[in-house]
Amino acid sequence: MLEPAAPSPAVRGIRIAIDGPAASGKGTVARAVATALGYLYIDTGAMYRALGLAARRAGLRVDDAAGLSSLASGLPLDFAWDGQRARVMLGEEDVSVAIREPEIGAMASAVAVHPQVRAELVRRQQLLAARGRVVVDGRDIGTVVLPDAELKLYLDASLSERARRRHEEFQAKGERVALAEVEAEIRDRDAQDSGRATGPLQVAPGAVLLDTTGLGIDEVVQRVLRLAQRAGA
Ligand code: DC
Repeated sequence: MLEPAAPSPAVRGIRIAIDGPAASGKGTVARAVATALGYLYIDTGAMYRALGLAARRAGLRVDDAAGLSSLASGLPLDFAWDGQRARVMLGEEDVSVAIREPEIGAMASAVAVHPQVRAELVRRQQLLAARGRVVVDGRDIGTVVLPDAELKLYLDASLSERARRRHEEFQAKGERVALAEVEAEIRDRDAQDSGRATGPLQVAPGAVLLDTTGLGIDEVVQRVLRLAQRAGA
């Protein structure tokens, strides 16, 4: 069981909240920044994705708010470290690969509109982040999960660049998806994530906006590390 713990004043460290639209590179940046600082990386999108996967397996409809919220409350979700990367576990099953399927991204976005579902996952995210020294990425981290984070970032890039990056990822995995299809999927997901009433994707007050269009990952990571150092990391 996870117990919330106040960050020890003896341990120097901050909480870094990173929000942004689909395929903005926030996951890659968050993971690299966490590794460089020796911080815990919390991928909140993976939590919504795992719920989306569990909902599909349970045959739940995405508009079944009560069913989804009860599924979320009992979800045996955990992150396990395999020595190299965090694995997303549903009970004993490693679902790290299964949750990256495009349909599961769409499911995640659809289940994430329900306030009761969000309340449960936000509660778990706050518990995980309570010790500090964390990099947390998602859509509502700077606005809802950690509004008092010492550093808040909003990563963005043009739709065509984000689609190109995501398309390259699929190609690297040997998956054949048309670029236009990837772009349409990202556009739909952004509209749903920005348009919902609870915890919509938006720039948090005080967040630093980073447009990564045309920037390499290393450059973005270096910028974030400089900001983190200034914020007390
Ligand atoms: O970051 P991602 O693409 O893995 O997230 C998948 C979906 O989960 C995203 O489209 C919306 C939802 N999500 C959310 O609503 N709030 C978060 N903090 C993270 C993800």
